[in-house]
Amino acid sequence: MDVRLANAKDAYAVRLVGLRTWPATYGPIAGADYVSYGLARWWSPEAVRRSIEGQGTFVAVAGDDVVGTATVGELDGSPVLWKLYVLPDFHGFGIGSALLEAVLASLPPGADRLRLSYVDGNDEAERFYRRRGFVEVARHPDPEGPDGIWMEKMLA
Ligand SMILES: CC(C)(COP(=O)(O)OP(=O)(O)OC[C@H]1O[C@@H](n2cnc3c(N)ncnc32)[C@H](O)[C@@H]1OP(=O)(O)O)[C@@H](O)C(=O)NCCC(=O)NCCS
Repeated sequence: MDVRLANAKDAYAVRLVGLRTWPATYGPIAGADYVSYGLARWWSPEAVRRSIEGQGTFVAVAGDDVVGTATVGELDGSPVLWKLYVLPDFHGFGIGSALLEAVLASLPPGADRLRLSYVDGNDEAERFYRRRGFVEVARHPDPEGPDGIWMEKMLA
């Protein structure tokens, strides 16, 4: 398995990761409407194309297949992990960890923290991030679904 920056040719495969992981992840905790809303907003062809052009999207590739993706961007001058998704059949093989490592390695030298938010009730994501040094810093209501819980990891 290899982790690298995504390019324009990966756009369809990156979108497929969203289309396959969102129903499995958020259907049970937030419902079908939330899944439809999120896929339309964050995984449309246009949204995926922009995230790749922004040079902050990574892909994990096994053989010829994209099995996971991560997108890092910025909010108020601090890096934010906007997406980290691994295809359901590939969880537990170190792919999410490798994507997170690639994101951390890509941050500018002056970055002092990495932020992210996960959906309340996504216990697998919460455990994954806690074990990797993220701590909860805020909780934001989301009119479209469960609260968003913000975490951050301080960087050395
Ligand atoms: C959270 C997520 C990205 C982690 O990716 P992953 O490739 O499964 O992560 P890893 O394999 O590197 O680590 C998973 C951990 O669970 C353990 N694990 C073992 N078997 C597992 C299994 N079948 N499924 C999930 N985790 C398993 C791993 O050993 C590892 O333990 P550790 O934290 O003590 O090291 C992935 O579960 C995912 O895509 N979830 C759905 C989408 C999601 O919630 N994304 C986050 C949005 S904020």
